[in-house]
Amino acid sequence: MINKRKKLLLTTILIISLLFSFSIILNAQNEVIPTRIVLTWQSNPQTTMSMTWRTEGEADSLIYYKPQNAENKNFKSIQAKTWTFEGTKYWIHGSEIKGLEPNTKYISYVKTGNKKSDEFIFETAPSKSENITFLAGGDSRTNREDRREIMRRAAELDPDFVMFTGDFITSPLSESNWEKWFEDWSELMITDDNKRIPIVPAIGNHEVKGGYFGKRKDAAFYYNNFLLPGNEKYYKLNYGPDLTLLNLDSDHTSLVYGGPQIEWLKKTLNEDNNEWLITQYHVPGWPSYKSFHNETSRSIRDFWIPLFEKHNIDLSIEANDHSYKVTKKIGGLKEYKQELDQMINEGMKEAKEDYDPEEDYTPWNMPELSALSGGDWEEVEGVNTTLEAIDELVYYTSLYLIQDKGDIDYNMVYDEIAKSTLFNNFWDQFPEHFDAYNENGITYIGDGGWGAPLRGVDSPDKRWYLKDTAAQYNFYEVNLIPDDKTMKITPHIWQDQNKWITLEGFSVEH
Ligand SMILES: [Fe+2]
Repeated sequence: MINKRKKLLLTTILIISLLFSFSIILNAQNEVIPTRIVLTWQSNPQTTMSMTWRTEGEADSLIYYKPQNAENKNFKSIQAKTWTFEGTKYWIHGSEIKGLEPNTKYISYVKTGNKKSDEFIFETAPSKSENITFLAGGDSRTNREDRREIMRRAAELDPDFVMFTGDFITSPLSESNWEKWFEDWSELMITDDNKRIPIVPAIGNHEVKGGYFGKRKDAAFYYNNFLLPGNEKYYKLNYGPDLTLLNLDSDHTSLVYGGPQIEWLKKTLNEDNNEWLITQYHVPGWPSYKSFHNETSRSIRDFWIPLFEKHNIDLSIEANDHSYKVTKKIGGLKEYKQELDQMINEGMKEAKEDYDPEEDYTPWNMPELSALSGGDWEEVEGVNTTLEAIDELVYYTSLYLIQDKGDIDYNMVYDEIAKSTLFNNFWDQFPEHFDAYNENGITYIGDGGWGAPLRGVDSPDKRWYLKDTAAQYNFYEVNLIPDDKTMKITPHIWQDQNKWITLEGFSVEH
C-alpha cells in the first residue's frame, strides 16, 4: 500500500517537473521571437535597406534576403547587431543591408536565436526617373483604434514610403506606448502583396523627455528603434534620381538656429541635390491651431524658411497641431530675412559707436525702448511703420544689452527683440510688407491628424496664410510625376471617424 502511494507521488512529481521544464523551454523560445519589424533607410534607398525588430530575450540575430524573382533559391544573410538601453525590457536587433539592386523587390525575414519572423517583401528605390508615391502625416500619439484605422487605409494605397512627421506616442519614456505603436506599425503598414512600407521619420516633442531642447539620451526609444542616416537627428535622403528629402529637428534634440543644425542645413542645401526638394519637421512654421508666436515656429520662419525659399523647396511637411492643413503659397521670407539681418547688424554697429558708459540705457530710462517693445510705436517720434519700429527697437535694445552684458552679438539682439510684442505684431502684417502671396512661394501641408485628439479650427481665414484648415484626421498622398514636372497632392480624410473621403487635391509645378 505504502509503496503504491509512494509510486503515485513520485509519478506526480515527475509529471509536474516535466511540465515545468517544458514550459521553461517554451518560454525561452517565446522570448526571442522577432516582433515589431520596422524598415528605414540609413543611406541610398536604391541599394540599401535598414530594419530593426524587438525580442524579450537576448540572442544572436540575422537578416535574410533574396530578390523575389531569383532563380537561385538561397537566401543571403547578414549578421545584425543586438543592443538594449536603460528603461526597456527589450533587446533591439537591426542592421543595414547593402549592395542591393535598384527598383527590385526582395523577399526577406529576420531570425533571432532559432526563431524566424514571417517572410515579407521590401522594395528598393528606382535608379531611373519614374513616378513616385509617398504618404505624409504625423501625430499618431493618442487614440489607438483611430491610428490603426489610418494605418490600414494608408497601407491600402501601396506607397513607396511614409514621411512621418513626429509625435508617434504620448509619453517618450513609456515602454508600453512604444510597444503598441511598433505592434500597430508592424502589423498594419504592410500591403496586400506582403510588402513592408519603409518610414522616413522626423522627431517630435512627444519623443523627447521635456519636449524641447533635450539631448539624444532624452529620446532613447526614438533613437534606439529607428536606424537613420548620419547623426540621425537631421538628415538627407535621396529617393531615386528626382527627389531629395530633408528631415529636420524642430528644437527637440537640436536647435533650429544657434547650433550645428542650421550650419548643416545651409551646407546641405548648397549640395548637388535632386530637382525636387521636400522638407519635413514636426513644429509648424505656419501653425493652423497653436500659437503663431511660439519660439520654435518663429525661429523656423526667421532662419529655415528664408533658406527654403532661396533653394526653391517644393513642399514642406509640418505637424503638431492635430488638424488638417494646407497653406497658401507663401513667399517673401527670404527678402524679409535679408532686411532683418541688415537691421540687426547695422543697429548693433550704430549702438556700439554711440554707446556712452556714463549713460543709463535701462528701459525705465529709455521710454522709446519700452514703447517700441510693447508694440506702441506710434508714441515714438520719427517712426511711421512696423518695419521702421523694428529698426529702432534693434538700436535701443543693443544699447541696453551692451550696458547689461558688455559685448553683444547677432543672436543676443535677435533673441531679445523676438520676445517683444512689436515683433509678434509684425507677423500679422507680413503680407503688407513683403510679397507674401508669391507664385514662387512654398506650400505647407500637414499639421498632424494621424489619430491625435483633434483641435477645433474655427476658420481658415483666421490666419492669412491658411487655405484649407479643419479638425479632421488625415494624411496626404503625394504623387511625383517627373515627366510632367508635377507633384500631385491628394488629402485623404477620415471624416467624422467613420468614412474615408479623398479631397480633390492640388498640384505643385516645378
Ligand atoms: Fe507635437
